[in-house]
Amino acid sequence: MAESTHFYQTFQPAHYDLFLDIDRGNKLITGQTTITGHATTATIALHQKYLKVTAVTAGDDPVPFTLDDAAEAVRLTLPQAGDVTVTLTYTAPLTDTMMGIYPSYYKLNGERKQIIGTQFETTAARQAFPGVDEPEAKATFSLALKFDEQPGETVLANMPELRVEDGVHYFDTTVKMSTYLVAFAFGDLQSKLTTTASGVQVGVFATKAHQAKELDFALDIAKRSIEFYEDFYQTPYPLPHSWQLALPDFSAGAMENWGLVTYREVYLTLDPDNTALELKQRVATVIAHELAHQWFGDLVTMKWWDDLWLNESFANMMEYVAIDAIEPDWHIWESFQTGDVPAALQRDATDGVQSVHVQVEDPAEIDALFDGAIVYAKGARMLVMVRALLGDDALRKGLKAYFEAHQYGNATGADLWAALGAASGLDVGAIMTSWLEQPGYPVVTAQVQAGHLVLTQAQFFIGAGVNADRVWQIPLNANFAAPTLMTAATLDLGDYTALRQAAGKPLRLNVGNNSHFIVAYDETLSQDLLAQVATLDAIDQLQLLQDARLLAEGGKQSYAAVVPLLKQFADTRANVVYAALYQAAVNLKKFAQPKTPAEAQLKQLFDQLSAAQVARLGWQSQAGESNDDLLIRPYALAAAVYAENPAEQAAAHAITAAVADYAELPADTRAYLLINEVKHYGSVALFDQLLAAYEATSDPSYKEDLAAALTNTPDPALIARIVTAFEDATIIKPQDLRSWFRGVLANPQGQQAAWDWLRTEWGWLEQTVGGDMEFPTYITVVARIFETPERLAEFKAFFEPKLKDQAVTREIIMDTKVIEGRVALIAADQAAVTAAVANAL
Ligand code: BES
Ligand code: ZN
Repeated sequence: MAESTHFYQTFQPAHYDLFLDIDRGNKLITGQTTITGHATTATIALHQKYLKVTAVTAGDDPVPFTLDDAAEAVRLTLPQAGDVTVTLTYTAPLTDTMMGIYPSYYKLNGERKQIIGTQFETTAARQAFPGVDEPEAKATFSLALKFDEQPGETVLANMPELRVEDGVHYFDTTVKMSTYLVAFAFGDLQSKLTTTASGVQVGVFATKAHQAKELDFALDIAKRSIEFYEDFYQTPYPLPHSWQLALPDFSAGAMENWGLVTYREVYLTLDPDNTALELKQRVATVIAHELAHQWFGDLVTMKWWDDLWLNESFANMMEYVAIDAIEPDWHIWESFQTGDVPAALQRDATDGVQSVHVQVEDPAEIDALFDGAIVYAKGARMLVMVRALLGDDALRKGLKAYFEAHQYGNATGADLWAALGAASGLDVGAIMTSWLEQPGYPVVTAQVQAGHLVLTQAQFFIGAGVNADRVWQIPLNANFAAPTLMTAATLDLGDYTALRQAAGKPLRLNVGNNSHFIVAYDETLSQDLLAQVATLDAIDQLQLLQDARLLAEGGKQSYAAVVPLLKQFADTRANVVYAALYQAAVNLKKFAQPKTPAEAQLKQLFDQLSAAQVARLGWQSQAGESNDDLLIRPYALAAAVYAENPAEQAAAHAITAAVADYAELPADTRAYLLINEVKHYGSVALFDQLLAAYEATSDPSYKEDLAAALTNTPDPALIARIVTAFEDATIIKPQDLRSWFRGVLANPQGQQAAWDWLRTEWGWLEQTVGGDMEFPTYITVVARIFETPERLAEFKAFFEPKLKDQAVTREIIMDTKVIEGRVALIAADQAAVTAAVANAL
């Protein structure tokens, strides 16, 4: 690990005066930054990246300076240590990198327009202005902004605008905050505004390419989320306004800039009259996530980037806590169970995975180590585990104390554990250490041995793994008499017959699925459990399917044992159960190569798993349907499309053919209707029509569905056209490229073309998304799909020479294991699975 000192140690800024002049036409930023602060030595360093610093003064005197681009620094020699005011004059390029200050492009009435916005987390504030770009270096900021302004343009920043003078917009001074949360934006925007009960102004802003009603849903959720947090945290929202802004080009999903939260359009604007429930829920949780950060992250900030996980895990948990409170009928925790939980359990089972808490120094390391399934999903699971142990009263009491103690300052994980510990009397830190500092998670084996019920924990791997004898402190949540925590490798619970009798039901561990482990029951226990499957609640059933799938992925049992389970749950009315069933079924596809009898049989099984649901629910939602039905339908239709049931194909075609404009199709089934159309009723004309709709629409969820349909084309000439568009940002925005790439790669007819493209255009990709955490995830996409020894060999041949590149080293090592594991699993299990599928029909 690179040794690096924090610039904050030698210079502590107190206030920044930022002046920025942005010339969109010439793609040039001219800036002047004045920083008042305290220097502990005469030689100090400030961060800068791609800045051309032309002059530095202290008071009226010029200050000698040198640029150190390798350290992303400008080094100054001040007259002496002590309190000082320095002014730096500079220019910087305005580039299309979705980092720093950057343009976002969109079309309005056929004209290409742009909005300027910012994205500074983690270390891109230094591309906009020089300063100490570290989370601990909190200061106040006064922003003055000038640009080649057109009449009617809107200008937004963290704080309200004070005045405009000579074309310069002056904003009110911020509270003490970190550099990575500074933000501003301007362009031709529309907005909707409201006020919270406590008087905070809430606004939603988007380009005028959207219909005005597309802002309503977000406004309502944002307002109610802020009201919820003010109550839950017992701490007022500290700024006068909370703006939510949708940017047409956005690298991440959303960003919690204090007072000016930015979003991808798909996560903010939606047509209230035609959007799938699942996406509405997603938008709501994204907004609640960013607003949770306004306190946890913005008001109190991690001291250093090694605690970025804490920021993100906490917001990831709170997005569910908040939405569950404001939309209780959604049962939003169910989507935690069908989304985050399996993502964490899958990724965390790969040998070489990072622990949640990792030491980092260098910004490049921060990017390379940022693993969403771990930092967000596993981390949130850890906090959910803590919440379950503490209860909400102690959690809220602890949080209130934490905010009071650290507001406008910084804190570490240990500070949070201390506050929660004081509020609950539990040694939270001790329990968490085993989960946060160690990678992976345990499978707990429950066995009846010589009449005793014995539990054993061991690390669970999918693919090859090296046993490191890790032991976790496991909240067992057993329905039998058992200790709260399992702290050793084995635990003898005593006489099984007596325990079983006292409990009056089959043994269940991890009831509620809130602890991060899976369970392997022995033959006796699983027979007992399976006999009473119908009495289990939906989460228990999901867990049974999820654990069975994972145990099969890890080679602890054959997938052949999972197959008969599926049909048992096919008629469920619970979306969580059907989601888990679908996920297990999809995982069988790897055992059935395209165009083989095994595949034909698997399609038949998919038909049997979906036919009754499709018959019951139909292709179109009805008014007044339950949320469960609304959420089951997409899975059932996806299964039916794969199954190629001729009657359903024709039914979908009839609906699709009946509309004059595909935009009229109902959003909750649109993707499946269009995929069916492209796959089975496709033509060049249809392709052209869908692509034109893709380019024209400003409804981001319609765009996603169109992309999903287009990438499913079986026509090689059309696939070639898509691949050509990969590098044409006027058709496929860089922010959307990964999902297009994934779509083509997952299409058996497209895989070769997508894979060839990735290998020839790797350099281009690195340049386009290179400075971004998204870059390594292209490798993850490949690893999720490849399943043959030939592809494995090609993967290794291409990526092994790139192992030296720090940004992708870990990903390559892990993903090689992922594909190797899958190839081995197919070889070992294919015959048994094929037989089990045939048997189940
Ligand atoms: N702060 C993050 C975004 C971020 C993280 C930017 C790390 C740069 C480095 C933001 O709060 C976030 O978590 N965004 C999510 C969206 C979602 C989970 C609500 C994202 O971008 O995926
Ligand atoms: Zn976040």
